[in-house]
Amino acid sequence: MSSENSACAEMVERTRRAYIQAYGKTPELIVTAPGRVNLIGEHTDYNDGFVLPAAIDRQVVMAAGRRDDGQVGLRALDFDDAVEFHVANQRRSTVSKWSNYQRAVIWALQEAGYEVPGFNAVFTSDVPIGSGLSSSAAIELATCQTLQKLADIDLDGVTRALLCQKAENEFVGMRCGIMDQYIISLGQAQHALLIDCRDLSYQAVPLPQGVKVVICDTKKRRGLVDSAYNTRRAECEAGAAAMGVKALRDISPEQFTEYELKLDTTVRKRCRHVITENQRVLDAVAAMRVGDLTTLGRLLNESHASLRDDYEVSCTELDIMTEIAWRQPGVLGARMTGAGFGGCTVNLVEDEHAEAFLSQVSSAYQLATGLQPDIYICTAVEGAHQVV
Ligand code: GLA
Repeated sequence: MSSENSACAEMVERTRRAYIQAYGKTPELIVTAPGRVNLIGEHTDYNDGFVLPAAIDRQVVMAAGRRDDGQVGLRALDFDDAVEFHVANQRRSTVSKWSNYQRAVIWALQEAGYEVPGFNAVFTSDVPIGSGLSSSAAIELATCQTLQKLADIDLDGVTRALLCQKAENEFVGMRCGIMDQYIISLGQAQHALLIDCRDLSYQAVPLPQGVKVVICDTKKRRGLVDSAYNTRRAECEAGAAAMGVKALRDISPEQFTEYELKLDTTVRKRCRHVITENQRVLDAVAAMRVGDLTTLGRLLNESHASLRDDYEVSCTELDIMTEIAWRQPGVLGARMTGAGFGGCTVNLVEDEHAEAFLSQVSSAYQLATGLQPDIYICTAVEGAHQVV
């Protein structure tokens, strides 16, 4: 096994044992797929814009092996549940909803013309569900990697990401952009990726030295996110159409000042967020490249304000968590991360202040909300891959 973190190593052992117990033989392979944190560039991906996520050391681990009767056996260790179904004619399950991500990927591979064999898989995850760290995309990528290896299907990292996005869009029914699947497929250790969501190219950007990336989970779980997300997407599309461009990516902040009065208030606010956020991503990367952490932090803070006021996808808990973080010594910047309406914030904290940050923010947040947060330092890891 390569240089996995200790939680991952424990999960690998646990899935291996569970596989042997369930199926009476050792798995043919074990894969891991990480969650992700987005440093900046929120709700820009489906506007052909820029994002800057990193894959993190929270992951799905899946142990698997072929079977020759065309059946699929799936075991979710975390839900203590198992299902079995035939590999042909995938349909969404209303009973074991967790299995819809695996079913979706099987469906998308078949749609792309690949023959998917029967298989058994046991999996576990420590990416918290509904926290904005892409637990579902991690399952999709783990499933895709597993099936590629089992069936010898050759897909490059971008094609794999697109296939899993299609699975989520068309089978699960969530109109997500490409960011999550892309970073989970192609993430690099110690780097964030600047992804151009129009041409799907990327540049690896080293994470800054002397700074910890801290995730603060508000423990407020997202609700109604799918419908609000799809509404935001539609508002962006309406804005682009009204301004006569293919996507909001095509409007610069300067051009927007000419156009904005033509838009109705809500669409104007949504567009202003996306257009200014795209610029902030590019400015953030430029700041990282020259080690200007003050500017980087300021851009994160501005991103939060824009998501809160213009895009209106923050919530009380995310705002409280961010405001507490902004007051702590050694904090360069803090913002909500992911789709919003609950979940996590991302914080850049100077090394020597990180430990104090964890305890101070934890107690202040608990006092303010009555919720016990989960706050931890994360590291950037490589994307989905086989470990055994
Ligand atoms: C979710 C979606 C992504 C992206 C973010 C918001 O994570 O899956 O495609 O749109 O929300 O930036």
